[in-house]
Amino acid sequence: MKVFGGSASKSLTEKIAKHLSLEASFLDVFVFPDKEKRIRVREKVLDDDCIIIQSTNTPPDENYMELFLSIDCLKRSGAKSVKAFVPYLGYQRQDHIFRDGEAVSAEVIAGILDKSGLLEIYSFDLHTPKIIDMFNIPVHHLSALPVFSRKIKKDFNLGDLVLVSPDMGGIRRIKELSELLGNIPFATVLKNRNLNSGKIQDGQLDGDVRGKIALIVDDIIATGITIADTSNLLINSGVSKVFAFATHAVFAGRASEILQKSPLERVFVSDTIEIPDDKQFPKLEILSISEIAAEALKS
Ligand code: R5P
Repeated sequence: MKVFGGSASKSLTEKIAKHLSLEASFLDVFVFPDKEKRIRVREKVLDDDCIIIQSTNTPPDENYMELFLSIDCLKRSGAKSVKAFVPYLGYQRQDHIFRDGEAVSAEVIAGILDKSGLLEIYSFDLHTPKIIDMFNIPVHHLSALPVFSRKIKKDFNLGDLVLVSPDMGGIRRIKELSELLGNIPFATVLKNRNLNSGKIQDGQLDGDVRGKIALIVDDIIATGITIADTSNLLINSGVSKVFAFATHAVFAGRASEILQKSPLERVFVSDTIEIPDDKQFPKLEILSISEIAAEALKS
């Protein structure tokens, strides 16, 4: 097996390769003056099973294009099989038509990857499991929840905790984490999102949180507003402390500043997305999913 890292996932590729006792390889990425890319594999891959690891976070269009061209160059160079490991699958949140006239980006992406010659695809914590059904090739849906569960068992007294989903869509996720932690209590925020402004309106809490340490659990932190608003709501509802756990640190715009200034004690995220130095902040702690990824690739 040969493991190749795309330019969005270099350090994660190194970590995964290390768990697999393999050497990570990287493709040549040449950028033309008009920003088109030329991708080239230098080493021999004839009859090899190849994995390309590339997250499709910011800038998603560029990272996707690099992924598509990487798959193509490995196939054309005679690889026996090519699998894609896309730790964060960009464009997945538009998974159905919210308003008349919209495109369904998750389905468009699935359609392109299906036709790219991939044998199968791996990804972490999809926004909804129904995205799996949009693909014809096999999708291995992995989760960062076991990593979060280990961290919570190590750092917290389980009897003090309540898990909180910042929206109804996160209920399945929070129930799963609660089970991993021995069925600890959970609560949900009932929120409405204004589809024009993206702002969250009228957050209300369903569940008992008073006096507890609240752990907010979400799949994605993009602008940071959902998590920050939820932490304020929880403090106003009488929790003693509030922490956040999220798989994908998209960190768009002023997210880092918003999270640092929020009432959150700490923000735990995974390394499905590489966070540049200028987006890191004192309350942030990064937990690695590389071992789970390597185990999945081994089997
Ligand atoms: C929404 O359904 C997702 O699960 C996240 O809650 C959302 O993407 C977070 O977005 P933001 O950080 O911009 O509030």
